[in-house]
Amino acid sequence: MLNVALPKGRLGEKVYAMFEKAGFECPAIHEPGRKLIFENEEKQVRYFWVKPSDVAIYVERGAADIGVAGKDILAEYAPDVYELLDLNLGKCRMAVAAKKGFRDNPEKTLRVATKFTNIAKAHYAAQGRDIDIIHLNGSIEIAPILDLSDVIVDIVETGSTLKENNLEVYESFMPISARLIANKPSFKFKNALMQEILGSLSAQVEAEK
Ligand code: PRP
Repeated sequence: MLNVALPKGRLGEKVYAMFEKAGFECPAIHEPGRKLIFENEEKQVRYFWVKPSDVAIYVERGAADIGVAGKDILAEYAPDVYELLDLNLGKCRMAVAAKKGFRDNPEKTLRVATKFTNIAKAHYAAQGRDIDIIHLNGSIEIAPILDLSDVIVDIVETGSTLKENNLEVYESFMPISARLIANKPSFKFKNALMQEILGSLSAQVEAEK
């Protein structure tokens, strides 16, 4: 049985469609309801919907053999998994944003609010910039408005969240997209099956380019 962790939401739906096209369909997944696990015994595949930021945990620990996670999560938590393929979906970028007109004063410690503590630390360490990290779990855009921070480090997709909160991108520094990841031992022991999926998914990604 191949266990596949899919990120709940629109991205996960798209990814499931790719697996279906690869010949690993599981029609029950389309039935309405709150069920989280779906299995097709004949195809030897089991899908489960998990919170997007948890996919890498399932895969790293082997509860899932493969899964799909954003490059942001992989960069932030550096899970011990194989990154097999850039699916070219869920494209966005990691950026520093601030209130319009913000000018950085290098003499002062920069207050940075973010969910992505490790990414932000690495970004500023590379510049030798002194920062004070303020870890938040969401609605990061509020921080500079209430003067909790000078800047934020967050994901920007369309840019509308920043715009509607009178913030602007100060610096974009990491392109992000969804990646197919695999558990390391599973990649060895279920290699034939994984190669079959990888082959079909790669071809689908190429065809979309
Ligand atoms: C992300 C990010 C921004 C928003 C950016 O939030 O933290 O708030 O998307 O998208 P946009 O550029 O298209 O407006 P998400 O929806 O993941 O929720 P959360 O960070 O508040 O949990």
